[in-house]
Amino acid sequence: MPTIIDCDPGIDDAIALAMALAGNELDVRAITTSYGNVSVSQTTTNAIRVLDWLGSDLPVHAGASRSLLGPAIDAAVYHGATGLEAPDLGKPSRLPDSTAAIRFLIDALSSGGDKITIVALGPLTNIALALRIEPSIADGIERIVIMGGSTDYGNDSPAAEFNFLADPHAAQIVLDSGLPISLFGLNVTHRLIATPERLGRLRAIGTSTSRITADMIAYFEAVYVQRYGFAGAALHDPCTIAYLLEPSMFDMRPMRVDVDTSSGLSLGRAVYDVWGIAGAAPNAEVAVDVDPEAFFDLLDARIAAYPSRSS
Ligand code: BDR
Ligand code: CA
Repeated sequence: MPTIIDCDPGIDDAIALAMALAGNELDVRAITTSYGNVSVSQTTTNAIRVLDWLGSDLPVHAGASRSLLGPAIDAAVYHGATGLEAPDLGKPSRLPDSTAAIRFLIDALSSGGDKITIVALGPLTNIALALRIEPSIADGIERIVIMGGSTDYGNDSPAAEFNFLADPHAAQIVLDSGLPISLFGLNVTHRLIATPERLGRLRAIGTSTSRITADMIAYFEAVYVQRYGFAGAALHDPCTIAYLLEPSMFDMRPMRVDVDTSSGLSLGRAVYDVWGIAGAAPNAEVAVDVDPEAFFDLLDARIAAYPSRSS
């Protein structure tokens, strides 16, 4: 499955990359980065540090530094000032590719080769811009699998989930693209809680990769315990990879989804026409349920697939 991962690492982005690159099912061709959890220069550095950790030399293309119409917001309160504070993955071994993310996306998706699945783990600015600049790239996209939105409450505002709030207009452009879209919101990711027992199982794999993964997730935990009263961190972004590898763990429903782009209390809120009341054709399949045990079993299996290294 030829894949490009667009991300803003970010702790859960890093875990998603680790899950994706543990085998070759997804045939990941490149990583594109965006502002989001922290600045784009920092998420790009982090993407390279994560690839170094995982032993991957995939190209990394740096993308948007702010949203289409507004400034960049960030989620450093969850991910720490650098987006990946602990454990220390060291300095990046290289610079990003000299081709910017949007140019790269347009070229890769216009090549006439295999259709590519895009996994979107941050604000949707890069993908929206590429679709607007060169609409014909839609022909090169198999589908877009997105972590964003929520059928219930928000996390970065009372109403909105972070990735959609960061660039509501970009999210709407992508939802209007007519492409097959799979959407994973907080309503499922807030059920993927890395409890102490689950983190213990991950650590018990006993490899450096499992220890680093568990330490990363543990760093993320405090805000989930304090703000939400959860028993651990929620693993948002990795659920997209879990879906591509094992779709049966999710219950997906087709529906029309739009994003509130008007300023005000609900800016960035995704509106799901669960009952088809507006009479509009569905534009996405939406995750409405997940099997958390199947998810954590898959996470363990993917992390255990990395060879044991001494560090
Ligand atoms: C999303 O926001 C980011 O902080 C996470 O990486 C995830 O993509 C969750 O709302
Ligand atoms: Ca993310």
